Amino acid sequence: MPNLLIVEDDESMLDTLGDIFRDAGENVVTVPTGADALEEFSRNQPDLVLLDIRLPDTDGLTLLKKMKATAPDLLVVIMTAYPQVQTAIQAMKAGAYDYINKPFDLDEMRLVVKKALETRLLKDEVNRFRRERASTAKSTKILGASAVTAQMRALIQMVADTPRTPVLLTGESGTGKELAANAIHYGSARAHKALVKVNCSALPDNLLEDELFGHERGAFTDAKETRKGLFEMADGGSLFLDEIGEMSPALQPKLLRILEGEPFRRVGGTREIRVDVRIIAATNRDLSAMVEAGTFRKDLYYRLKVMEIGLPTLRQRREDIPLLVEHFIALHSREMGKQTATFTDPAVQMLMNYSWPGNVRELRNVVERAVILANGDAIDRKHLPLELCKAAVSESFQTAPPFSLDLTLEDLEREYILRTLKKLKGNRTVAAKKLGISRSTLFEKLKRYGAETKWS
Ligand SMILES: Nc1ncnc2c1ncn2[C@@H]1O[C@H](COP(=O)(O)OP(=O)(O)OP(=O)(O)O)[C@@H](O)[C@H]1O
Ligand SMILES: [Mg+2]
Repeated sequence: MPNLLIVEDDESMLDTLGDIFRDAGENVVTVPTGADALEEFSRNQPDLVLLDIRLPDTDGLTLLKKMKATAPDLLVVIMTAYPQVQTAIQAMKAGAYDYINKPFDLDEMRLVVKKALETRLLKDEVNRFRRERASTAKSTKILGASAVTAQMRALIQMVADTPRTPVLLTGESGTGKELAANAIHYGSARAHKALVKVNCSALPDNLLEDELFGHERGAFTDAKETRKGLFEMADGGSLFLDEIGEMSPALQPKLLRILEGEPFRRVGGTREIRVDVRIIAATNRDLSAMVEAGTFRKDLYYRLKVMEIGLPTLRQRREDIPLLVEHFIALHSREMGKQTATFTDPAVQMLMNYSWPGNVRELRNVVERAVILANGDAIDRKHLPLELCKAAVSESFQTAPPFSLDLTLEDLEREYILRTLKKLKGNRTVAAKKLGISRSTLFEKLKRYGAETKWS
């Protein structure tokens, strides 16, 4: 890939410059006209452009503006035959990195180019650092050691590496769709640009359209001034369309057209606007069923579905629970300025057995609440919400349904205590602990059942 593009109509000058920088080890492409320059530029973006201000088919300033419009970061050094301050100022205003007056001596030229290429390196470095910092600051780390999670992470990495493909993230509530969107954006070459987020269910139809596409002044009564839409704000970056299933059928075709690379107009506008945005859509609804029901456009669905990532539920990856718990404990303990809490084994067991309809978000909330309630002590079952306990009870009832209208509570209690003892081979100390009563209470109850000798 060339890193130096030289645009100059004087052929002998072009050859000389080409030779010098080729000898210096640069990857050089030389072209004599503006049209050639643009063609070369659109094929391969160079690190640096040396641009003559006077060209046969256009002028350097126009060319500079065109190039900067598609590549704002591009470094351009202008060569001007006239020591005209005015031209130089104009060029700098249009975003040139530097300028050099003709005739120049070659050492001077070498120096300017060397400095520019160094700047290029620094800029790239800064971008990379920004990207890294952004990705840690936004906590894009997808935790979990299970095979399904590893697979999901690999898929997300792959998608991050293809920064133009639209993505559809599907999964139940709380499975980490937004986290995945962050990971995709901040792991991609778009990381130094914006990740703009919008929830399609949060706004009525016309407001969402206004939000996405912007409007021109006077487009409607309240449009006092022109406003850019989110698509324009996300230019160069990514747009996260959360709850895409709620987007109205009227807006869906507009989105599809953008996905197909077509320009759009602001509300009330005539100018066509093109943006370079990666769409990351998310939903917890079954889009294929919605297509069947006619509430979601088939063509849009198929366009989005090309790269679909289905996020696994927490019950499909229970092995990840301990790691996630540890992470959330550390997080919440730190937030509350408390010492890192620990969970007792029975409490962990209860977390492992629960069905987690609210997935990772529910787990996070449960841990946060427990850290508060335990107030520095070990987190026990009593610090967990009642739902978890109820779920555990009903699950064990399902394996051995004891339900009959002829039984009293005392009957059930007796049966339960005796079964527990049997399972623990008569170990009354452990049984009392498991049952959550004192040893003496257990003795008393056994005595009442006339069963105390059986287990002594
Ligand atoms: N694998 C994971 N590792 C660490 N944290 C996770 C993971 N998955 C989800 N989380 C955390 O769980 C919470 C919920 O995730 P997120 O908001 O991304 O879910 P969602 O799928 O967008 O949910 P909803 O459909 O309800 O909007 C967040 O705090 C997120 O950081
Ligand atoms: Mg979400």
